[in-house]
Amino acid sequence: MSLGKALVLTISDTAAAGKREDLSGPEARRILTEAGFDVAGIEILPDERGAIESRLRRASEEDFRLVVTSGGTGLSPRDVTPEATLAVIDRNVPGIAEMMRLESLKATPRAALSRAVSGIRRSTLIINLPGSVKGVRECLTAVRPILSHAMDVLGQSSLGCGET
Ligand code: MTE
Repeated sequence: MSLGKALVLTISDTAAAGKREDLSGPEARRILTEAGFDVAGIEILPDERGAIESRLRRASEEDFRLVVTSGGTGLSPRDVTPEATLAVIDRNVPGIAEMMRLESLKATPRAALSRAVSGIRRSTLIINLPGSVKGVRECLTAVRPILSHAMDVLGQSSLGCGET
């Protein structure tokens, strides 16, 4: 059974300008499809906070159950994906970002340099991932086991974890 409709957003100035092929988006799509999501598409946006915020807002109105962003989570001045995400979410879900960082730190200490956040807007779960293919793979693999249950609970108005 499908876990629902998902969207992958690659956030990168160079990919958006066509100067670099987007390899991270397809990797995210591959893993999410394997996990049972119906991935409607991969879209590429530049590191522009306004554009990211408005796409995330619209995605929640389009009833995407999950939006995964890749890139723009680091320390460079153009990295604004976490700020854009925090501006649109209704509720923070820090455990998802914590889980990704915890697992990622086993692979590289540089995982500490991702400021990725996760949260819920309406009934859409938004998860930030780093921009590299390796980062996408490691982070999505880390959270994959909890995504199905997250979708179950998100879709219900008053369902607790013990009730599914
Ligand atoms: N997390 C994992 N799992 N694997 C990685 O290779 N790379 C790190 C970090 N998180 C990495 C990772 C690096 S080097 C950076 S700079 C930050 O993610 C931010 O990446 P971004 O700006 O492309 O989002």
